[in-house]
Amino acid sequence: MSMRLPFFNNKKTKLNETPELDTIPKHVAIIMDGNGRWAKKRGLPRVAGHKEGMDVVRQIAKAASKCQVEILTLYAFSTENWRRPKSEVDYLLRLPKEFLHIYLPELMENNIKIETMGYVDMLPDHTKEAVDYAKEKTKDNDGLILNFALNYGSRFEILQAVKQIITDMENDELSFDKLDEQRFSEYLYTTGLAEPDLLIRTSGEKRLSNFMLWQIAYSEFWFTDVLWPDFKEETFVQALDDYQQRKRRYGGV
Ligand code: FPP
Repeated sequence: MSMRLPFFNNKKTKLNETPELDTIPKHVAIIMDGNGRWAKKRGLPRVAGHKEGMDVVRQIAKAASKCQVEILTLYAFSTENWRRPKSEVDYLLRLPKEFLHIYLPELMENNIKIETMGYVDMLPDHTKEAVDYAKEKTKDNDGLILNFALNYGSRFEILQAVKQIITDMENDELSFDKLDEQRFSEYLYTTGLAEPDLLIRTSGEKRLSNFMLWQIAYSEFWFTDVLWPDFKEETFVQALDDYQQRKRRYGGV
């Protein structure tokens, strides 16, 4: 059964007035880009863009929750981001703790569940402790899953899946014949999560940057020139509205 979402009837957003719940993307993944350029335009240090970007994470998580998106995956720190100056890396890795310190009560109020994906063992203890605490605290929430990609790289993810598969085959825990796409995907960080229906990248860049390469095989892509710190609820709803106009064929006709 489909339902009307009152949220979309907001005149300011000039959206399709009759969206149906069954056309809302279940899983939206976002490559949040443009923080540095946003700061530079204002003569501010790059980290000021990341700080502003953190607040946008809060707004978009609330918007996604309101729109009844089930999973919102955000690319917060990639395996390549270690190449940035140490001060910027340190800042980026302090943001999850700061975000959760400020917004955890609000996330709880909104029934949001925190998840992470990535090679978390390499993260500083304070980052791991903050996300572990938030994951434990929110584990029984059954609203939006807010999934942070932290120290995430898709090639690394696929490679570690292959290594684990080989190990499981050597230990007779997985047979060669049983390995299919479904079984393979269970070795990825996203096991148990639906694949992204919609992938958004901000700031005008049109690259995937090693993000969810397996999982986005059939995702719709949506690009905007808007820099992440300027990305508003209206922009997010615009992306959902565009998504609703598309016909997904999955290779069929
Ligand atoms: C890319 O912009 C953005 C990042 C590498 C970091 C994204 C992080 C946030 C938006 C904040 C995360 C918040 C939480 C709660 C974890 P860029 O710095 O590459 O921008 P540029 O291309 O303009 O230089």
